Amino acid sequence: MPKVVRRIFNPQASEGMSEIERRSPFHTTVPFLDLSRQHQEIATEADEALRRVAAGGDYILGREVEAFEREWAAFCGVAGAVAVASGTDALTLALLASGAVRKGRGDEVITTPLTAAYTALAIVNAGGVPVFADICPRSLTLDPAAVERAITPRTRAVVPVHLYGRLADMQTINNVAARYGLTVIEDAAQAHGASINGRRASAFGHAAAFSFYPTKNLGAYGDGGAIVSDDPELLERARILRQGGHPEALRRATEGRNSRLDEIQAAVLRIKLRRLEEWNRRRRETAHRYSSAFERTKLIIPKVRDEMSHVYHLYVVRHAARDRLRAHLDGHRISTMIHYPFLLHQQPLFSSGARSPLPVAERVVGELLSLPLHPHLTEEETSAVIAAVLDFEKDAE
Ligand SMILES: Cc1ncc(COP(=O)(O)O)c(C=O)c1O
Repeated sequence: MPKVVRRIFNPQASEGMSEIERRSPFHTTVPFLDLSRQHQEIATEADEALRRVAAGGDYILGREVEAFEREWAAFCGVAGAVAVASGTDALTLALLASGAVRKGRGDEVITTPLTAAYTALAIVNAGGVPVFADICPRSLTLDPAAVERAITPRTRAVVPVHLYGRLADMQTINNVAARYGLTVIEDAAQAHGASINGRRASAFGHAAAFSFYPTKNLGAYGDGGAIVSDDPELLERARILRQGGHPEALRRATEGRNSRLDEIQAAVLRIKLRRLEEWNRRRRETAHRYSSAFERTKLIIPKVRDEMSHVYHLYVVRHAARDRLRAHLDGHRISTMIHYPFLLHQQPLFSSGARSPLPVAERVVGELLSLPLHPHLTEEETSAVIAAVLDFEKDAE
């Protein structure tokens, strides 16, 4: 993600500014994300942890990783966690460790077309064929009825994605999967701490995969991921697979890979985990400010039922004039992103599992816009985003 430098707008200091900047009534440039602010909050503890790990001489899969695995499993409310090198690997290894997918069998795995390409890539890496089912227009997550329609005799698993920080409809998806004997692996890369009736993402499927990529709600200072599950055998197989098949590799060739979390990342994640609930609370607070300000506009805002706790990894709105709104915000030096500009069933790599048309996904994909939202966004920045959006709506009237 490009780093955006924060500039304070000073109407007097207009030299070198474009016309649009000179006219701007807003006082800040709003970066989409600024992880250096997060670091500032934990700098003392992080420095101490980095020194401790460096001095300890134990750098991969040591005590910090073991402690983090215990703490992360406890946070998720599941029996255990296996830390790996990325979220993509976590999903691949969860599919393999569950026994759902085997190479060369043409095993189909149903997922959503509206997600990071890594979701489908992980299925391909495991040897499966991603098959895409349509999404619900309200939640933008996998539609259980569309999942059922996409099932064939080759279907082995379903990978619901808790998109943007809200849970997919897990109860109905689990019911469909149970009827057809399918494995369910949650892609929880965007949903650290998201819950329904107090039950957190990862407590619904046979296993779940998390990413600790730096921009995630719980992010490391590099790459990282974890498989979590209540199934001790699945966890043990994942532990073997992440180390090139070790210890069996010493005696016989077991399939596997090198996908290990290092001690520095685990130490940083342990520090950030202690703040995750507070950071998620701040995300929700900003989301509520946005949503109440946009209630009577043409923006379609994210809505959740009372029993759901959305963790707003991303605050994504829909607007029929998305590109014009984006250009308007850009003119006010407010960074936005699009998650995602392309649907996966339309990507050449995944075309073998494409089940077109997917009308809901195809209709909404051109309307999606992610506004800046993170725990260190200031009130002033939030106000600037709201004012700029309302200004666009006023002009559009
Ligand atoms: C929904 C989803 N799945 C999987 C991944 C892959 O995670 P990683 O980047 O850690 O491999 C990501 C992160 O980009 C994601 O957002």
